[in-house]
Amino acid sequence: MSSVQNLLLESLLGTKHVDNAAIIKIHARTVLVSSPGFNISPSDIRVLVNGFSKNPVQVRRDGLYFREKDYKCVRADERSLYAKKRIMLAVHFDQPGGPENLYLKEVAKPEPGPGEVLLKVAASALNRADVLQRWGQYSPPPGASNILGLEASGHVVTVGPGCQGPWKAGHSAMALLAGGGQAEYVTVPEGHLMPVPKGLTLIQAAAIPEAWLTAFQLLHVIGQVKAGETVLIHAGSSGVGTAAVQLARQAGAIPLVTAGSLDKIKAVEKLGAAAGFNYKEGDFSAATLEFTKGAGANVILDCVGGSYWEKNVACLALDGRWVLYGLLGGAEVHGELLSKLLTKRGSLLTSLLRSRDKKYKAELVAAFTQQILPHFAQDEPGSLRPVVDTVFPLKQVAEAHVYMEQNKNLGKIVLEVTPVP
Ligand SMILES: NC(=O)c1ccc[n+]([C@@H]2O[C@H](COP(=O)([O-])OP(=O)(O)OC[C@H]3O[C@@H](n4cnc5c(N)ncnc54)[C@H](OP(=O)(O)O)[C@@H]3O)[C@@H](O)[C@H]2O)c1
Repeated sequence: MSSVQNLLLESLLGTKHVDNAAIIKIHARTVLVSSPGFNISPSDIRVLVNGFSKNPVQVRRDGLYFREKDYKCVRADERSLYAKKRIMLAVHFDQPGGPENLYLKEVAKPEPGPGEVLLKVAASALNRADVLQRWGQYSPPPGASNILGLEASGHVVTVGPGCQGPWKAGHSAMALLAGGGQAEYVTVPEGHLMPVPKGLTLIQAAAIPEAWLTAFQLLHVIGQVKAGETVLIHAGSSGVGTAAVQLARQAGAIPLVTAGSLDKIKAVEKLGAAAGFNYKEGDFSAATLEFTKGAGANVILDCVGGSYWEKNVACLALDGRWVLYGLLGGAEVHGELLSKLLTKRGSLLTSLLRSRDKKYKAELVAAFTQQILPHFAQDEPGSLRPVVDTVFPLKQVAEAHVYMEQNKNLGKIVLEVTPVP
Protein backbone atom coordinates (compact mmCIF):
# COMPACT_ATOMS: atom_id res chain seq x y z
CA MET A 1 0.00 0.00 0.00
CA SER A 2 1.35 3.39 -0.93
CA SER A 3 2.12 6.05 1.59
CA VAL A 4 -0.76 8.09 0.22
CA GLN A 5 -3.19 5.27 0.88
CA ASN A 6 -1.80 4.78 4.33
CA LEU A 7 -2.18 8.45 4.98
CA LEU A 8 -5.74 8.32 3.81
CA LEU A 9 -6.70 5.25 5.79
CA GLU A 10 -5.19 6.57 8.96
CA SER A 11 -6.35 10.13 8.65
CA LEU A 12 -9.76 9.75 7.07
CA LEU A 13 -11.29 6.31 6.99
CA GLY A 14 -9.72 5.38 10.27
CA THR A 15 -11.11 8.27 12.24
CA LYS A 16 -14.45 7.85 13.89
CA HIS A 17 -15.14 11.45 13.05
CA VAL A 18 -15.70 10.87 9.36
CA ASP A 19 -16.78 7.23 9.73
CA ASN A 20 -17.02 5.85 6.22
CA ALA A 21 -17.33 9.25 4.64
CA ALA A 22 -14.91 10.84 2.26
CA ILE A 23 -14.42 14.52 1.77
CA ILE A 24 -12.30 15.47 -1.16
CA LYS A 25 -11.70 19.02 -2.22
CA ILE A 26 -10.29 19.85 -5.59
CA HIS A 27 -8.74 23.24 -5.58
CA ALA A 28 -6.50 24.47 -8.38
CA ARG A 29 -4.05 21.65 -8.91
CA THR A 30 -4.09 20.40 -5.38
CA VAL A 31 -6.31 17.80 -3.80
CA LEU A 32 -7.06 18.36 -0.17
CA VAL A 33 -8.57 15.73 2.05
CA SER A 34 -10.79 16.72 4.92
CA SER A 35 -8.15 17.20 7.57
CA PRO A 36 -6.04 20.28 6.92
CA GLY A 37 -2.43 19.60 6.20
CA PHE A 38 -2.85 16.64 3.89
CA ASN A 39 -2.13 18.23 0.57
CA ILE A 40 -1.72 15.69 -2.14
CA SER A 41 -0.54 16.31 -5.66
CA PRO A 42 -2.76 15.56 -8.67
CA SER A 43 -0.56 12.66 -9.72
CA ASP A 44 -1.60 10.91 -6.54
CA ILE A 45 -5.30 11.38 -7.10
CA ARG A 46 -5.90 7.93 -8.54
CA VAL A 47 -4.04 6.27 -5.71
CA LEU A 48 -5.97 8.36 -3.27
CA VAL A 49 -9.30 7.47 -4.77
CA ASN A 50 -8.46 3.78 -4.89
CA GLY A 51 -7.75 4.06 -1.21
CA PHE A 52 -11.39 4.84 -0.57
CA SER A 53 -12.74 1.85 -2.33
CA LYS A 54 -11.63 -1.25 -4.12
CA ASN A 55 -14.31 -0.53 -6.67
CA PRO A 56 -13.27 1.29 -9.80
CA VAL A 57 -13.94 4.99 -9.92
CA GLN A 58 -13.05 7.54 -12.50
CA VAL A 59 -10.95 10.61 -12.05
CA ARG A 60 -11.67 13.37 -14.51
CA ARG A 61 -10.45 16.90 -14.85
CA ASP A 62 -13.66 18.27 -13.37
CA GLY A 63 -13.87 15.99 -10.40
CA LEU A 64 -14.02 12.54 -8.87
CA TYR A 65 -16.61 9.98 -9.84
CA PHE A 66 -17.74 7.38 -7.35
CA ARG A 67 -19.86 4.43 -8.22
CA GLU A 68 -23.42 5.37 -7.32
CA LYS A 69 -23.93 1.89 -5.88
CA ASP A 70 -21.18 2.37 -3.32
CA TYR A 71 -21.16 6.07 -2.55
CA LYS A 72 -23.88 8.61 -2.10
CA CYS A 73 -22.95 12.14 -3.08
CA VAL A 74 -24.10 14.27 -0.19
CA ARG A 75 -22.81 17.60 -1.44
CA ALA A 76 -20.86 18.70 -4.49
CA ASP A 77 -19.82 21.92 -6.13
CA GLU A 78 -17.18 23.00 -8.58
CA ARG A 79 -14.47 22.62 -6.01
CA SER A 80 -15.46 19.87 -3.72
CA LEU A 81 -17.34 16.67 -3.31
CA TYR A 82 -18.55 15.05 -0.12
CA ALA A 83 -19.42 11.41 -0.61
CA LYS A 84 -20.73 9.01 1.99
CA LYS A 85 -20.24 5.33 1.46
CA ARG A 86 -23.48 3.40 1.15
CA ILE A 87 -23.19 0.56 3.59
CA MET A 88 -25.40 -1.50 5.83
CA LEU A 89 -25.12 -4.58 8.00
CA ALA A 90 -26.40 -7.85 6.59
CA VAL A 91 -26.30 -11.52 7.52
CA HIS A 92 -23.46 -13.10 5.58
CA PHE A 93 -21.54 -16.35 5.18
CA ASP A 94 -18.33 -16.85 3.23
CA GLN A 95 -18.66 -20.61 2.76
CA PRO A 96 -21.74 -22.84 2.76
CA GLY A 97 -21.97 -24.86 5.97
CA GLY A 98 -23.14 -24.80 9.57
CA PRO A 99 -24.67 -21.91 11.52
CA GLU A 100 -21.24 -20.95 12.89
CA ASN A 101 -20.46 -19.57 9.41
CA LEU A 102 -22.98 -16.78 9.82
CA TYR A 103 -21.93 -13.27 10.79
CA LEU A 104 -22.92 -9.66 10.22
CA LYS A 105 -20.99 -7.95 7.47
CA GLU A 106 -20.89 -4.42 6.09
CA VAL A 107 -22.16 -4.62 2.55
CA ALA A 108 -23.35 -2.13 -0.05
CA LYS A 109 -26.73 -0.63 0.72
CA PRO A 110 -29.25 -1.32 -2.09
CA GLU A 111 -30.90 1.39 -4.15
CA PRO A 112 -34.49 1.02 -5.36
CA GLY A 113 -34.74 0.48 -9.12
CA PRO A 114 -37.78 1.29 -11.26
CA GLY A 115 -40.96 0.12 -9.55
CA GLU A 116 -39.12 -0.71 -6.33
CA VAL A 117 -39.27 0.64 -2.81
CA LEU A 118 -36.43 0.84 -0.27
CA LEU A 119 -37.48 -0.53 3.12
CA LYS A 120 -35.60 0.07 6.36
CA VAL A 121 -35.96 -3.32 7.97
CA ALA A 122 -37.29 -3.56 11.51
CA ALA A 123 -37.60 -7.36 11.59
CA SER A 124 -37.27 -10.38 9.34
CA ALA A 125 -38.40 -13.92 10.05
CA LEU A 126 -36.39 -17.08 9.50
CA ASN A 127 -37.48 -19.79 7.08
CA ARG A 128 -36.25 -23.28 6.27
CA ALA A 129 -35.13 -21.86 2.95
CA ASP A 130 -32.54 -19.75 4.82
CA VAL A 131 -31.16 -22.90 6.45
CA LEU A 132 -30.98 -24.71 3.11
CA GLN A 133 -29.33 -21.70 1.44
CA ARG A 134 -26.74 -21.56 4.20
CA TRP A 135 -25.94 -25.23 3.58
CA GLY A 136 -25.49 -24.43 -0.12
CA GLN A 137 -28.57 -26.46 -1.08
CA TYR A 138 -30.90 -23.69 -2.23
CA SER A 139 -29.63 -20.89 -4.46
CA PRO A 140 -31.57 -17.65 -4.76
CA PRO A 141 -33.48 -17.34 -8.04
CA PRO A 142 -31.77 -15.29 -10.80
CA GLY A 143 -31.74 -11.58 -10.00
CA ALA A 144 -32.51 -12.05 -6.29
CA SER A 145 -30.26 -10.84 -3.49
CA ASN A 146 -27.77 -13.36 -2.10
CA ILE A 147 -28.54 -12.12 1.40
CA LEU A 148 -30.80 -14.43 3.43
CA GLY A 149 -34.33 -13.40 4.33
CA LEU A 150 -37.59 -14.03 2.47
CA GLU A 151 -39.77 -11.65 4.46
CA ALA A 152 -39.43 -8.43 6.39
CA SER A 153 -41.30 -5.63 8.08
CA GLY A 154 -40.19 -2.04 8.44
CA HIS A 155 -40.59 1.47 7.10
CA VAL A 156 -40.47 2.84 3.59
CA VAL A 157 -37.40 5.07 3.10
CA THR A 158 -37.61 6.00 -0.56
CA VAL A 159 -39.66 5.08 -3.57
CA GLY A 160 -37.93 4.28 -6.86
CA PRO A 161 -38.77 5.79 -10.26
CA GLY A 162 -42.07 4.80 -11.81
CA CYS A 163 -43.77 3.56 -8.65
CA GLN A 164 -47.52 4.03 -8.86
CA GLY A 165 -48.71 2.49 -5.62
CA PRO A 166 -49.68 4.15 -2.38
CA TRP A 167 -46.28 3.81 -0.67
CA LYS A 168 -44.64 6.93 0.76
CA ALA A 169 -41.60 7.51 2.95
CA GLY A 170 -42.41 6.66 6.58
CA HIS A 171 -45.19 4.15 5.86
CA SER A 172 -44.89 0.91 7.78
CA ALA A 173 -45.10 -2.19 5.62
CA MET A 174 -44.36 -5.89 5.37
CA ALA A 175 -42.74 -7.45 2.34
CA LEU A 176 -42.54 -10.75 0.48
CA LEU A 177 -38.94 -11.11 -0.71
CA ALA A 178 -36.94 -13.42 -2.95
CA GLY A 179 -34.01 -12.68 -0.59
CA GLY A 180 -32.30 -9.83 1.21
CA GLY A 181 -34.52 -9.39 4.27
CA GLN A 182 -31.88 -10.10 6.92
CA ALA A 183 -30.19 -6.75 6.50
CA GLU A 184 -30.74 -3.16 7.57
CA TYR A 185 -32.25 -2.22 4.21
CA VAL A 186 -33.90 -4.15 1.40
CA THR A 187 -35.44 -3.22 -1.92
CA VAL A 188 -38.73 -4.76 -2.91
CA PRO A 189 -41.08 -4.44 -5.90
CA GLU A 190 -43.89 -2.14 -4.76
CA GLY A 191 -46.49 -4.81 -5.51
CA HIS A 192 -44.90 -7.19 -3.00
CA LEU A 193 -45.53 -4.86 -0.06
CA MET A 194 -48.51 -5.09 2.26
CA PRO A 195 -49.76 -2.78 4.99
CA VAL A 196 -49.20 -3.93 8.57
CA PRO A 197 -52.58 -5.07 9.94
CA LYS A 198 -53.92 -2.73 12.61
CA GLY A 199 -52.91 -3.71 16.13
CA LEU A 200 -49.99 -5.90 15.04
CA THR A 201 -46.39 -5.06 15.93
CA LEU A 202 -43.61 -5.00 13.34
CA ILE A 203 -42.27 -8.19 14.96
CA GLN A 204 -45.58 -9.95 14.30
CA ALA A 205 -45.80 -8.44 10.82
CA ALA A 206 -42.39 -9.90 9.91
CA ALA A 207 -43.82 -13.36 10.61
CA ILE A 208 -46.59 -13.03 8.02
CA PRO A 209 -45.46 -12.68 4.38
CA GLU A 210 -43.61 -15.89 3.46
CA ALA A 211 -45.48 -18.33 5.70
CA TRP A 212 -48.96 -16.95 5.19
CA LEU A 213 -48.69 -16.30 1.46
CA THR A 214 -47.33 -19.84 1.04
CA ALA A 215 -50.20 -21.33 3.05
CA PHE A 216 -52.77 -19.17 1.21
CA GLN A 217 -51.36 -20.19 -2.15
CA LEU A 218 -51.19 -23.91 -1.26
CA LEU A 219 -54.74 -24.06 0.06
CA HIS A 220 -56.57 -21.81 -2.36
CA VAL A 221 -54.57 -21.46 -5.59
CA ILE A 222 -53.03 -24.94 -5.79
CA GLY A 223 -55.17 -27.13 -3.52
CA GLN A 224 -58.52 -25.46 -4.39
CA VAL A 225 -59.85 -26.27 -0.93
CA LYS A 226 -63.61 -26.14 -0.39
CA ALA A 227 -65.72 -25.73 2.73
CA GLY A 228 -66.38 -29.06 4.44
CA GLU A 229 -63.25 -30.75 3.03
CA THR A 230 -60.63 -32.34 5.26
CA VAL A 231 -57.09 -30.97 4.98
CA LEU A 232 -54.17 -32.91 6.44
CA ILE A 233 -51.37 -30.44 7.25
CA HIS A 234 -47.94 -31.92 7.91
CA ALA A 235 -45.50 -30.07 10.21
CA GLY A 236 -48.60 -28.40 11.66
CA SER A 237 -46.54 -26.41 14.15
CA SER A 238 -44.21 -24.92 11.51
CA GLY A 239 -44.45 -21.34 10.34
CA VAL A 240 -46.39 -22.43 7.26
CA GLY A 241 -48.37 -25.05 9.21
CA THR A 242 -49.67 -22.64 11.87
CA ALA A 243 -50.85 -20.30 9.09
CA ALA A 244 -52.41 -23.14 7.05
CA VAL A 245 -54.44 -24.43 10.03
CA GLN A 246 -55.99 -21.00 10.57
CA LEU A 247 -56.64 -20.41 6.86
CA ALA A 248 -58.20 -23.87 6.45
CA ARG A 249 -60.57 -23.14 9.35
CA GLN A 250 -61.39 -19.76 7.88
CA ALA A 251 -62.28 -21.45 4.58
CA GLY A 252 -64.71 -23.76 6.41
CA ALA A 253 -62.48 -26.81 5.94
CA ILE A 254 -61.45 -29.29 8.65
CA PRO A 255 -57.72 -29.13 9.40
CA LEU A 256 -55.88 -32.16 10.76
CA VAL A 257 -52.20 -31.91 11.63
CA THR A 258 -49.12 -33.99 12.21
CA ALA A 259 -46.38 -32.86 14.59
CA GLY A 260 -43.54 -34.38 16.59
CA SER A 261 -44.71 -33.72 20.15
CA LEU A 262 -47.84 -33.54 22.27
CA ASP A 263 -47.10 -29.92 23.22
CA LYS A 264 -46.97 -28.90 19.58
CA ILE A 265 -50.19 -30.78 18.82
CA LYS A 266 -52.05 -29.15 21.72
CA ALA A 267 -50.90 -25.70 20.63
CA VAL A 268 -51.98 -26.26 17.03
CA GLU A 269 -55.35 -27.60 18.18
CA LYS A 270 -55.84 -24.28 19.98
CA LEU A 271 -55.26 -22.56 16.64
CA GLY A 272 -58.11 -24.57 15.11
CA ALA A 273 -56.87 -28.04 14.20
CA ALA A 274 -59.67 -30.59 14.64
CA ALA A 275 -57.14 -33.27 15.63
CA GLY A 276 -53.41 -33.80 15.69
CA PHE A 277 -51.30 -36.91 15.29
CA ASN A 278 -47.81 -37.41 16.67
CA TYR A 279 -45.96 -38.94 13.72
CA LYS A 280 -43.18 -40.15 15.99
CA GLU A 281 -45.50 -42.30 18.06
CA GLY A 282 -48.19 -43.54 15.72
CA ASP A 283 -49.43 -43.97 12.17
CA PHE A 284 -50.89 -40.64 11.06
CA SER A 285 -52.35 -42.32 7.99
CA ALA A 286 -54.45 -44.78 10.02
CA ALA A 287 -55.45 -41.95 12.39
CA THR A 288 -56.58 -39.78 9.46
CA LEU A 289 -58.66 -42.62 8.01
CA GLU A 290 -60.18 -43.26 11.42
CA PHE A 291 -61.01 -39.56 11.92
CA THR A 292 -62.62 -39.32 8.47
CA LYS A 293 -64.44 -42.64 8.86
CA GLY A 294 -62.45 -44.16 6.03
CA ALA A 295 -62.92 -41.31 3.54
CA GLY A 296 -59.40 -39.85 3.89
CA ALA A 297 -58.11 -36.30 3.46
CA ASN A 298 -59.30 -34.31 0.45
CA VAL A 299 -56.19 -32.15 0.52
CA ILE A 300 -52.75 -32.95 2.00
CA LEU A 301 -50.28 -30.09 2.48
CA ASP A 302 -46.98 -31.94 2.47
CA CYS A 303 -43.57 -30.42 3.18
CA VAL A 304 -42.08 -33.79 4.16
CA GLY A 305 -42.11 -35.75 0.90
CA GLY A 306 -40.06 -38.97 0.67
CA SER A 307 -40.54 -40.50 4.11
CA TYR A 308 -44.32 -39.84 4.04
CA TRP A 309 -45.29 -40.80 0.50
CA GLU A 310 -46.79 -44.20 1.25
CA LYS A 311 -48.79 -43.01 4.25
CA ASN A 312 -49.95 -39.94 2.33
CA VAL A 313 -51.33 -41.88 -0.58
CA ALA A 314 -52.93 -44.39 1.79
CA CYS A 315 -54.97 -41.67 3.54
CA LEU A 316 -55.70 -39.52 0.47
CA ALA A 317 -59.42 -39.33 -0.33
CA LEU A 318 -60.73 -40.39 -3.72
CA ASP A 319 -60.02 -37.48 -6.13
CA GLY A 320 -57.84 -35.92 -3.42
CA ARG A 321 -55.12 -33.32 -3.99
CA TRP A 322 -51.70 -34.01 -2.52
CA VAL A 323 -49.78 -30.73 -2.53
CA LEU A 324 -46.02 -31.22 -2.19
CA TYR A 325 -44.09 -28.08 -1.24
CA GLY A 326 -41.05 -29.26 0.74
CA LEU A 327 -38.75 -32.23 1.22
CA LEU A 328 -37.94 -32.29 4.93
CA GLY A 329 -38.22 -36.10 4.81
CA GLY A 330 -36.10 -36.56 1.67
CA ALA A 331 -36.79 -36.80 -2.05
CA GLU A 332 -36.53 -40.54 -2.70
CA VAL A 333 -39.53 -42.71 -3.38
CA HIS A 334 -39.27 -46.51 -3.57
CA GLY A 335 -42.43 -48.44 -4.39
CA GLU A 336 -45.60 -48.31 -6.39
CA LEU A 337 -46.50 -44.68 -5.96
CA LEU A 338 -48.09 -44.34 -9.39
CA SER A 339 -50.47 -47.27 -9.15
CA LYS A 340 -51.54 -46.28 -5.64
CA LEU A 341 -52.13 -42.69 -6.72
CA LEU A 342 -54.03 -43.80 -9.80
CA THR A 343 -56.31 -46.03 -7.71
CA LYS A 344 -57.26 -42.93 -5.71
CA ARG A 345 -57.59 -40.82 -8.90
CA GLY A 346 -55.33 -38.53 -6.87
CA SER A 347 -53.52 -35.43 -8.08
CA LEU A 348 -49.95 -34.81 -7.04
CA LEU A 349 -49.35 -31.07 -7.24
CA THR A 350 -46.11 -29.24 -6.43
CA SER A 351 -45.36 -25.63 -5.65
CA LEU A 352 -42.49 -23.25 -4.94
CA LEU A 353 -43.25 -19.61 -4.15
CA ARG A 354 -39.77 -18.07 -4.19
CA SER A 355 -39.06 -18.74 -7.85
CA ARG A 356 -42.41 -17.42 -9.11
CA ASP A 357 -42.24 -14.32 -11.30
CA LYS A 358 -42.92 -10.81 -10.01
CA LYS A 359 -46.36 -10.60 -11.59
CA TYR A 360 -47.55 -13.85 -10.03
CA LYS A 361 -46.31 -12.73 -6.61
CA ALA A 362 -47.91 -9.28 -6.97
CA GLU A 363 -51.26 -10.90 -7.81
CA LEU A 364 -50.95 -13.29 -4.88
CA VAL A 365 -50.06 -10.40 -2.54
CA ALA A 366 -53.03 -8.38 -3.84
CA ALA A 367 -55.47 -11.27 -3.34
CA PHE A 368 -54.12 -11.96 0.16
CA THR A 369 -54.23 -8.26 1.07
CA GLN A 370 -57.84 -8.02 -0.01
CA GLN A 371 -59.21 -11.34 1.24
CA ILE A 372 -57.14 -12.24 4.29
CA LEU A 373 -55.41 -9.22 5.86
CA PRO A 374 -58.67 -7.70 7.16
CA HIS A 375 -59.09 -10.82 9.32
CA PHE A 376 -55.88 -10.26 11.28
CA ALA A 377 -56.51 -8.59 14.59
CA GLN A 378 -55.12 -8.68 18.06
CA ASP A 379 -57.04 -10.82 20.53
CA GLU A 380 -60.38 -10.89 18.74
CA PRO A 381 -62.12 -14.26 18.84
CA GLY A 382 -61.83 -16.08 15.51
CA SER A 383 -59.31 -13.62 14.12
CA LEU A 384 -56.12 -14.71 12.41
CA ARG A 385 -52.79 -14.25 14.13
CA PRO A 386 -49.17 -14.89 13.25
CA VAL A 387 -47.59 -17.24 15.78
CA VAL A 388 -44.23 -15.91 16.97
CA ASP A 389 -42.18 -18.44 18.93
CA THR A 390 -38.97 -16.52 19.63
CA VAL A 391 -37.35 -13.20 18.79
CA PHE A 392 -33.57 -13.11 18.33
CA PRO A 393 -31.54 -9.94 17.79
CA LEU A 394 -29.98 -10.00 14.33
CA LYS A 395 -26.50 -10.52 15.72
CA GLN A 396 -27.68 -13.84 17.17
CA VAL A 397 -28.69 -15.14 13.77
CA ALA A 398 -26.50 -18.25 14.20
CA GLU A 399 -28.36 -19.21 17.41
CA ALA A 400 -31.65 -18.71 15.57
CA HIS A 401 -30.55 -21.17 12.86
CA VAL A 402 -29.54 -23.76 15.46
CA TYR A 403 -32.92 -23.38 17.16
CA MET A 404 -34.74 -23.97 13.87
CA GLU A 405 -32.59 -26.93 12.89
CA GLN A 406 -33.35 -28.54 16.24
CA ASN A 407 -37.08 -28.26 15.38
CA LYS A 408 -37.69 -26.33 18.59
CA ASN A 409 -39.89 -23.59 17.18
CA LEU A 410 -43.66 -23.61 17.31
CA GLY A 411 -44.56 -20.96 14.77
CA LYS A 412 -42.07 -18.37 13.60
CA ILE A 413 -38.58 -17.35 14.64
CA VAL A 414 -38.17 -13.60 14.14
CA LEU A 415 -34.90 -11.67 13.84
CA GLU A 416 -35.07 -8.14 15.21
CA VAL A 417 -32.95 -6.02 12.89
CA THR A 418 -33.48 -2.58 14.40
CA PRO A 419 -34.97 -2.26 17.89
CA VAL A 420 -38.76 -2.37 17.66
CA PRO A 421 -40.59 -0.37 20.35
N1 LIG B 1 -42.68 -24.43 -1.56
C1 LIG B 1 -42.74 -23.25 -0.99
O1 LIG B 1 -43.09 -22.27 -1.63
C2 LIG B 1 -42.37 -23.12 0.46
C3 LIG B 1 -42.48 -21.89 1.09
C4 LIG B 1 -42.19 -21.82 2.46
C5 LIG B 1 -41.81 -22.97 3.15
N2 LIG B 1 -41.70 -24.13 2.45
C6 LIG B 1 -41.34 -25.37 3.15
O2 LIG B 1 -42.28 -25.56 4.18
C7 LIG B 1 -41.68 -26.29 5.22
C8 LIG B 1 -41.92 -25.56 6.52
O3 LIG B 1 -41.16 -24.38 6.50
P1 LIG B 1 -41.11 -23.45 7.78
O4 LIG B 1 -40.10 -22.41 7.54
O5 LIG B 1 -42.49 -23.04 8.13
O6 LIG B 1 -40.56 -24.53 8.82
P2 LIG B 1 -40.33 -24.52 10.39
O7 LIG B 1 -41.11 -23.45 11.05
O8 LIG B 1 -38.88 -24.59 10.60
O9 LIG B 1 -40.95 -25.92 10.83
C9 LIG B 1 -40.57 -27.14 10.29
C10 LIG B 1 -41.05 -28.27 11.22
O10 LIG B 1 -41.13 -29.46 10.44
C11 LIG B 1 -40.98 -30.58 11.30
N3 LIG B 1 -40.03 -31.51 10.68
C12 LIG B 1 -38.71 -31.29 10.47
N4 LIG B 1 -38.17 -32.35 9.86
C13 LIG B 1 -39.15 -33.27 9.71
C14 LIG B 1 -39.21 -34.57 9.14
N5 LIG B 1 -38.13 -35.17 8.61
N6 LIG B 1 -40.40 -35.21 9.14
C15 LIG B 1 -41.50 -34.63 9.65
N7 LIG B 1 -41.51 -33.38 10.20
C16 LIG B 1 -40.34 -32.72 10.23
C17 LIG B 1 -40.47 -30.06 12.64
O11 LIG B 1 -41.54 -30.06 13.58
P3 LIG B 1 -41.88 -31.40 14.44
O12 LIG B 1 -41.37 -31.12 15.82
O13 LIG B 1 -43.34 -31.50 14.35
O14 LIG B 1 -41.16 -32.55 13.81
C18 LIG B 1 -40.10 -28.62 12.34
O15 LIG B 1 -40.20 -27.77 13.46
C19 LIG B 1 -40.21 -26.45 4.85
O16 LIG B 1 -40.05 -27.71 4.23
C20 LIG B 1 -40.00 -25.37 3.82
O17 LIG B 1 -38.95 -25.65 2.94
C21 LIG B 1 -41.97 -24.23 1.14
